[in-house]
Amino acid sequence: MDMEIKTVGVVGGGQMGSGIAQVAAMSGLQVIMCDVSEDVLRQGLQKITEILNRNVKKGKMSPEEKEEILGRVITTVVNEDLAAADFVVEAATESEAIKFQIFRDLDVICSPGVILATNTSSIPIGRIAAHTKRPDKVIGMHFMNPVPVMKLVEVIRGITTSDDTFKSTWDLALKFGKTPVQAQDYPGFIANRILMPMLNEAIFCLYHGVGKREDIDTVMKLGLNHPMGPLALADLIGLDTCLAIMETLYHGFSDSKYRPCPLLLRYVEAGWLGRKTGRGFYEYE
Ligand code: CAA
Repeated sequence: MDMEIKTVGVVGGGQMGSGIAQVAAMSGLQVIMCDVSEDVLRQGLQKITEILNRNVKKGKMSPEEKEEILGRVITTVVNEDLAAADFVVEAATESEAIKFQIFRDLDVICSPGVILATNTSSIPIGRIAAHTKRPDKVIGMHFMNPVPVMKLVEVIRGITTSDDTFKSTWDLALKFGKTPVQAQDYPGFIANRILMPMLNEAIFCLYHGVGKREDIDTVMKLGLNHPMGPLALADLIGLDTCLAIMETLYHGFSDSKYRPCPLLLRYVEAGWLGRKTGRGFYEYE
């Protein structure tokens, strides 16, 4: 059953997709990065190039190595090109409708032995798997932002995921130079189950006027040694994503302790989504 993975398909060329493509290419694998938008693919490739250029400048890699890594990444807007992949990681928009359609398509395009992994942070793996005829080969592979820097990958077993699928995905995470952990398919898995209520509580502190934004962030940075304050981190992740994950926890557990802070809702409704829109809890540029 063990198929050697030589080519990784990545669906989505955004923040997470391009990071996953970079990490795969850096571990020596061929990469096909697919997105519906040429623009997103261009930006994704641009981002990878910038990070590699920085590595060259710092003396961490040679210009030849950089070119070799970039040479391993192909971009395409044609889904069918993913037929050449031995393993696919989906990192498209965090929407059920979009992900279900992608998995239905991948199920037709990819050969039957190919594992289809999703980088979802909030949709149950089992619910995505049910849209394919290979639910045993669907699994969660949750990377953290920024992907090239963060060591962790949560490998999430859906109720239908097979042991072979789990093992291959685990080994691939190791090949990527990451440290995998195993999580079961419950809302938020492990990372977001713990992180998001913390970020949400920081937003409640701001909402209740317990502290100013800078003070809330300073407390967590200097008092708990977090590399970033929770409000700055929420801006980095995207406030729409934070809200979506809180809603997943709230509805998934039917538990009011996960209710999203009304201030978070107000920001998202106003289009203040964090760094990506230039404004969240802080202003950018
Ligand atoms: N892409 C690639 N590399 C990056 C990067 C990026 N976006 N941002 C920083 N780096 C690299 C830098 O080049 C630098 O590399 P070297 O060590 O080789 O020089 C290194 O990371 C450290 O960067 P900086 O010195 O510029 O800044 P820093 O020390 O403040 O680190 C940070 C930046 C890594 C983002 C750090 O602040 C951090 O760890 N923040 C917390 C991040 C976090 O919690 N992520 C999880 C978010 S939750 C999630 O992703 C799950 C979900 O589903 C929502």
